[in-house]
Amino acid sequence: MKIIRTIEELTSITGQLKEANKTIGFVPTMGYLHEGHTTLMDQSKTYADILIVSIFVNPRQFGPNEDFERYPRDEKTDQTIAAEHDVDYLFMPSVDEMYPGNDVVTLHVTDRVDVLCGKSRPNHFDGVATVLTKLFHLTRADYVFFGLKDAQQVAVVKGLVDTFNFPVKIIAVPTVREVDGLAKSSRNVYLSDKERQEAIYLFKALKEAKQLIIDGEKNPVMIKEKVKKYIEHHTNGKIDYVDILTFPSLDTVEKINQQIIIAVAVQFTKARLIDNIIVEPSGTVPYAII
Ligand code: PAJ
Repeated sequence: MKIIRTIEELTSITGQLKEANKTIGFVPTMGYLHEGHTTLMDQSKTYADILIVSIFVNPRQFGPNEDFERYPRDEKTDQTIAAEHDVDYLFMPSVDEMYPGNDVVTLHVTDRVDVLCGKSRPNHFDGVATVLTKLFHLTRADYVFFGLKDAQQVAVVKGLVDTFNFPVKIIAVPTVREVDGLAKSSRNVYLSDKERQEAIYLFKALKEAKQLIIDGEKNPVMIKEKVKKYIEHHTNGKIDYVDILTFPSLDTVEKINQQIIIAVAVQFTKARLIDNIIVEPSGTVPYAII
């Protein structure tokens, strides 16, 4: 595995790879790698010849009161984990390398962002779209892998790729969970022991909601109320949202008779957890290329 710190070196390598007709799989991350990330890496191996992973805590996608400074970082362990998963190139640029301060154009995401996390995180997805636009160009990826844990991110990236015709295919990978169902996340380390116990009820609530839909419930308002009550009953977290929307267009649903996403966000003392499931009336939707 080769560690790359500069854009110059990365573009020289990706240029050579393209000349040699290699297909490139790319997994963008912010590091503190866990099994959610490594599942994306393992997937890439089944699609592409070469695997590039980036680790970059992207300041542009953090709001002024968010956790950019204290976002967990562990370069050495990340390098070991990446090497164990047969990463070919690990791109770990500095903030100055990615943002030298010469921007002439700004990206602004106009759809799919006024709901779910986008509502309480203004400009978050502008930052995500900006860094991914740069990374797609630098890596020249044929396939890029994202986790459905961040389903709104998948929806926005799909919009970005479709809007600007990036020659890259998006592979959406199902959420990787702890054995008790909690979605794996770099932010789970912020949970107290008690909160860690309570956190499993997010996914339990989503599964209850899915069952209601399979049993024929079509009214999203009813389902949202039940999910809220269930989470409030089992946790001390503060519900940020419980929503049911179409996926990936993220439009409002009046009556459930198509593929939808049920998404929740709950604020615990030091961690805000998100989770979701994508469901259609007959059951859960497995996802690959979207
Ligand atoms: P990060 O939070 O590090 O996540 C990197 C990728 O791992 C994302 O596609 C995310 O959805 C996926 N992932 C995280 N936890 C997962 C889980 N439990 N199961 C499946 N996939 C999981 O998302 C970002 O970084 C950034 O916004 C980024 C795309 C890198 C842009 O800066």
